[in-house]
Amino acid sequence: MAIDYTKYPLPRTRRHVSANQYVPHSQLRVNLDYYPPLIERCAWDELFSHAQTPLQAPSYLDIGCGMGKFLLETAQNEPSVNVLGLEVRKYAVEWIQGVIEGESIGNAACLWYNVTNGMQFIESASIERIFYFFPDPWFKRRHFVRRAFTAAFLDECARVLKPDGTFYLMTDVPAVDEYQRTTLAKHGKFSFAYSESDDDWGLSVKTDQEVFSIRKNIPYTRMKCRLL
Ligand SMILES: C[S@@+](CC[C@H](N)C(=O)[O-])C[C@H]1O[C@@H](n2cnc3c(N)ncnc32)[C@H](O)[C@@H]1O
Repeated sequence: MAIDYTKYPLPRTRRHVSANQYVPHSQLRVNLDYYPPLIERCAWDELFSHAQTPLQAPSYLDIGCGMGKFLLETAQNEPSVNVLGLEVRKYAVEWIQGVIEGESIGNAACLWYNVTNGMQFIESASIERIFYFFPDPWFKRRHFVRRAFTAAFLDECARVLKPDGTFYLMTDVPAVDEYQRTTLAKHGKFSFAYSESDDDWGLSVKTDQEVFSIRKNIPYTRMKCRLL
C-alpha cells in the first residue's frame, strides 16, 4: 500500500550537519562529540524483523538514502529483499526509522553512518544492488575530501557486490558525473554504461531528488556499473 507520508511530520528543526561528519573518522583533525558511530558488525536479525531470508542480511544497499523514499518504497515493492540505507544525517535516519515502524516495513532498515568509514559490517559478495543516487556535489576543490566516491569507496563496493550484482548511479550535476566516470575508469574494477531508457534502467521507484529533478526539468544521468 502507498505510504501516506503526511502521517510522519518532518522534523521542524533539522540539526545542523557539521562538514566534519562527511570526513572519514581517521582523517578528522578535530575531536567531535557528534559523529556517526563507527560500525564493525551488525546484528541483522535485530535490524530486519521479517523472516523471509535465512540470513536476514541486506541484499540491496541505498547509500546516502536521504529522507528514504526510494529505500522505503523499494522495500515495500520487494518484500522478500532486505534493503539497508546508510545516511550521515541523523534526523533523516530517525525519521525513516519512524516510517519503517509505523508502516511495519520489516525488510527495510536505516543506519546513521558515514560510508567513507568503509562497509566492514557487510559480508563480501553479498549485495545484489548498490544504489548511490544524487550524491552531495561538493563543488569546490577544497571540499572534494568530503566526496564519498573515492577509490577506497569503490574497493568496498567491489568487495560487497555479488559477482553478477549491479551498482546504480544517478546525478544531476555534470561535474559529478564526469568525476565519477573518471574515478571509475581509474579504479578499473567496474564496467559502466549510461542507461538511456526506463526499460534498461529497470527501477520503477524514483528517489526524492529524482522526483525534484523531473518536476524542475533538471536533466540527470543514470548509470549502471558491473564488476569486470
Ligand atoms: C542530495 S541527497 C540525495 C538523497 C537520495 N539519495 C535521493 O536521491 O533523493 C544526498 C544524501 O547523501 C548523504 N550523504 C552524503 N555523504 C554521505 C556519507 N559519507 N555517508 C552517508 N551518507 C552521505 C547526505 O546526507 C544526503 O542525505
